[in-house]
Amino acid sequence: MKHKIGIIGFGTVGRGLTEILINKRDYLRRKYGYKFDIIAVADFKFGNVYNPKGLDVQHMLDMAQAGKKFTRDLVDWDNTRLIRKANATVWCELTFTDLQTGGPAIEHVITALEAGKHVVTSNKGPAALHYPRLKKLADKRGVEFMIEGTVVAGTPVINLATGPMAGCTINGIRGILNGTTNYMLTEMEKGMAYKDVLKIAQEKGYAEADPTGDVEGFDARAKVTILANIVMDAGIGIEEVSCEGITKITPADIEQARKQNKRWKLIGSVVRRGDRVEAFVKPEMIDLSHPLAGVMGATNALTFATDLLGDVTIVGPGAGKTETGFAILTDLLAIHRKRAQHKKSGRKA
Ligand code: HSE
Repeated sequence: MKHKIGIIGFGTVGRGLTEILINKRDYLRRKYGYKFDIIAVADFKFGNVYNPKGLDVQHMLDMAQAGKKFTRDLVDWDNTRLIRKANATVWCELTFTDLQTGGPAIEHVITALEAGKHVVTSNKGPAALHYPRLKKLADKRGVEFMIEGTVVAGTPVINLATGPMAGCTINGIRGILNGTTNYMLTEMEKGMAYKDVLKIAQEKGYAEADPTGDVEGFDARAKVTILANIVMDAGIGIEEVSCEGITKITPADIEQARKQNKRWKLIGSVVRRGDRVEAFVKPEMIDLSHPLAGVMGATNALTFATDLLGDVTIVGPGAGKTETGFAILTDLLAIHRKRAQHKKSGRKA
């Protein structure tokens, strides 16, 4: 059976995912038996399109690349109607993150879950602000709500902690969780000016639509909140995570760190203290001998402090078009595997 994929948001991640799916179509079928059509795309800039048999996505990529609106399979349905009416089995919610309210993404996710569709998202709004209630809704409807792409792009931190590391108690998490600021700090160390390097980070697709979220630490705070709640059952709200970004770091601070054989990093931490879990984000001067000091550019790194394995560190890309597109793919394949298992055991897929 073919998976019918709907995509909401045809920006950097939506196009990254689509390119991967096109390029790997044969490989995915051969290796995993994964067959799919992309049947619907909703984008506020390019239009809403739907074809139950599959869209001409290469044409859509070309149009989007040229900055032109879609011309084929257009529907005049709004996003809610499209989500309800299209024959998608899974919706990928890839719109811009809004950490104040969760933005329209919350509505998209709820509508899809209520309609009995799986949801995969890289949008930190729903995951950081409303994960428990959305997961509950997904469970009630017998579908998946998957969020690997919300933290450290496709580097599998959530799936690692909740899958292969299940059984370990995780007592702490510490790491570099924002690619933009790590890239900026790396380049600023080489002498580039803050403003110039921020512009490049935006051009490379690392930064959020509003980069304030990156440089003020709000993006890292959202990821810390997600990890604290999913991996360490913290039950905390995003407002309980204290947060300081990199905007106050000057060339003089960088020089001062250098003289002490140290380097500035924006560090997100989750710490278990007795019954309580605390989480915070702040710039820290890290000794050059520390493993996190060697993590440069848009690369992210995360150390889980566990009871059975000691420290487990994972390093990988934390942002980018293909890297986040891959995060969505990995969740799509996880749904495919679960579905196949359910089918074997005769349960609802
Ligand atoms: N703006 C984010 C970052 C993108 O730089 O890490 C991935 O969440």
